[in-house]
Amino acid sequence: MPNTIGLESSLLVRALRGEATERAPLWLMRQAGRYLPEYREVRAKHSMLDVIRTPELAAKVTLQPIDRFGFDGAIIFADILNPLIGMGIQLDFVEGEGPVIFNPVQTPSDVDQLKVPSPKENVPYTLEALRLVVKELSPRGVPTLGFSGAPFTLATYLLSKKGDKELAKRFMRDNQSAWAALQKKLTTLVSDYLVAQAEAGASAVQIFDSWVGVLSPSEFATFVLPWLQQVVASVKSRTKVPVIYFATSAGGLLAQFPSIGADVYGIDWRLTFAAARQTFGNKPLQGNLDPTILLGDKSYLEKETRRILAEGKEGGPFIFNLGHGILPPTPIANVETLVSLVKTFCLG
Ligand code: CP3
Repeated sequence: MPNTIGLESSLLVRALRGEATERAPLWLMRQAGRYLPEYREVRAKHSMLDVIRTPELAAKVTLQPIDRFGFDGAIIFADILNPLIGMGIQLDFVEGEGPVIFNPVQTPSDVDQLKVPSPKENVPYTLEALRLVVKELSPRGVPTLGFSGAPFTLATYLLSKKGDKELAKRFMRDNQSAWAALQKKLTTLVSDYLVAQAEAGASAVQIFDSWVGVLSPSEFATFVLPWLQQVVASVKSRTKVPVIYFATSAGGLLAQFPSIGADVYGIDWRLTFAAARQTFGNKPLQGNLDPTILLGDKSYLEKETRRILAEGKEGGPFIFNLGHGILPPTPIANVETLVSLVKTFCLG
């Protein structure tokens, strides 16, 4: 296991563990990506899947935003979807279209066919990339995060060619025992993957549940929450790393989120920190700048960043992030503005 002791005193790990910090630690979802010219250079020569499956390349692009901006944490370069390949799913990231699944699950017997490989068989390249990144960043005091898609969000991709949420909802209602079997498989896949990333040196893990907001509160309670609880309980029983749960457009589900049992909650810009604090108390919160604000006017960006910094620090630890992934047309200069504002704002 890599030596990660020095990382425990980093701003990000302290905030994730619930300690007060002198300023808000900062990282951005999708911080390694197409807004960076050095990332585009790598992608010009290698496909998305090749970058993910080649540990040296995945490590290289993971480090790019750390070297350029000095973010307080790295997130290992992969996608929520590539672990589905080992289940028997054929997928590709198609230029201009995003991910495409060529053989989506359509029937209960398709669910039976899905394999649940161990992370070592399924994604050895991501675990190796993590070890490489942690080796590089530990001496620099920068923690690295692992991640996985949540069972529901992964199911929306498994069940359709292009992540069609309506199909997932219909399958869930009309094939309830097959849905449970599918969630059970995904729960094992996701828990084992997060644990393996912690063992490879990740300082924390984030569960991305980007599409869960399409559900009603009662459907979330019935079809999704029990599996999320199992994922978090399993990870927490096997590792010591903090677990972050991130969802978007999910205000209607907020009241149920504390029972997921995560250590930290990521919120988007549709929620205020004040509302989130009412629900989560003094747990660490992460968010929530609208990534489209990074596309535009600098003075508006500064104003909104200062507002979030002021609101975020009330009532508990706070990690500055976006409310969703950074967008490809984001100007580098705006990211620089954001970084310098967050790094000079004292929480005191
Ligand atoms: O945050 C990071 O920097 C780590 C890497 C990461 C990627 N995807 C790289 C990526 C992470 C954490 C993800 C998560 C992810 N992937 C989610 C959950 C978070 C969210 O944004 O909602 C989802 C739903 C996906 C699925 C996915 N992957 C989509 C819908 C797309 C296409 C949209 C797009 O931005 O192109 C991807 C592709 C993808 N994943 C890219 C990157 C950098 C772009 C690929 C490229 O280089 O062309």
